[in-house]
Amino acid sequence: MAAVIETKNLAVAFGEGDARNVVFHRLNVSVEEGEFVTLVGVSGAGKSTLLRVIADLIPSLEGSIEVNAVRVPSRRPIAMVFQADSLMPWRTISQNITLGLEGIDVADADMQQRVDHTLDLVGLSDFGNRWPYQLSGGERQRIGIARALAVEPDILLMDEPFGSLDAITRTGLQDELLRIWRETKKSILFVTHDIEEAVYLGDRVLLLGGTPAEIVREYRVDIPRNQRREGEAFLRKIEEVKAGLHEAIAVTANNANDG
Ligand SMILES: Nc1ncnc2c1ncn2[C@@H]1O[C@H](COP(=O)(O)OP(=O)(O)OP(=O)(O)O)[C@@H](O)[C@H]1O
Ligand SMILES: [Mg+2]
Repeated sequence: MAAVIETKNLAVAFGEGDARNVVFHRLNVSVEEGEFVTLVGVSGAGKSTLLRVIADLIPSLEGSIEVNAVRVPSRRPIAMVFQADSLMPWRTISQNITLGLEGIDVADADMQQRVDHTLDLVGLSDFGNRWPYQLSGGERQRIGIARALAVEPDILLMDEPFGSLDAITRTGLQDELLRIWRETKKSILFVTHDIEEAVYLGDRVLLLGGTPAEIVREYRVDIPRNQRREGEAFLRKIEEVKAGLHEAIAVTANNANDG
């Protein structure tokens, strides 16, 4: 399988002088075509930073990022879904979905068709004329996903998209996302700090840790998804990732003490 995202020895830092914070020094991450990869790590590890640098929202210092074997910066077939509700309150749901299309040359008829199609995909066909305030938090997150899908990306970057939702809405949306992933064959890099969610969704779980951060562990999840909500193997995998995360925290703390 071909990698759709591949970073090589990526370095990212913020600030200058004493305030300099090297988030990544030599980070290597890859996502295969059609793969669902989840990324976990403690708060501040650099998860959002990694998504932003892949989406070219922030620059890298060194190393390379290839998306579909094209070196960025260039037009990348990528769309991002954010955790915070990022709908614009003065735009209808349809107008929110077409937001990402305004920079691209898309004909009006095609635009309407994409709105209808993506609303359908997220199960909110009748919502186009509503306003964001008329939607629940879970519905707004689904619109965030529809908006990302409307640009017809090959790759979806998702930054804790379900973080603020209650457990039942969240599990419902996880299943919906898996269905959309199967139907649309996207490649997904999904950030979460919920290990159960990471193991439930991912073909592979990457654990980001250390300072500067690296992928300190990688777990392949070979359990069929219909056996993942419960069962021995699923729970064991969750425990395994949790243990890895605790180890990574300990290592990070030691490094901080040494430095
Ligand atoms: N624009 C910025 N300017 C300066 N420092 C930043 C900036 N963005 C992030 N950082 C720093 O980079 C580090 C990584 O931040 P990042 O947001 O990637 O963490 P995260 O893993 O997404 O954490 P969380 O789980 O809390 O969302 C943190 O130390 C943060 O303070
Ligand atoms: Mg973050």
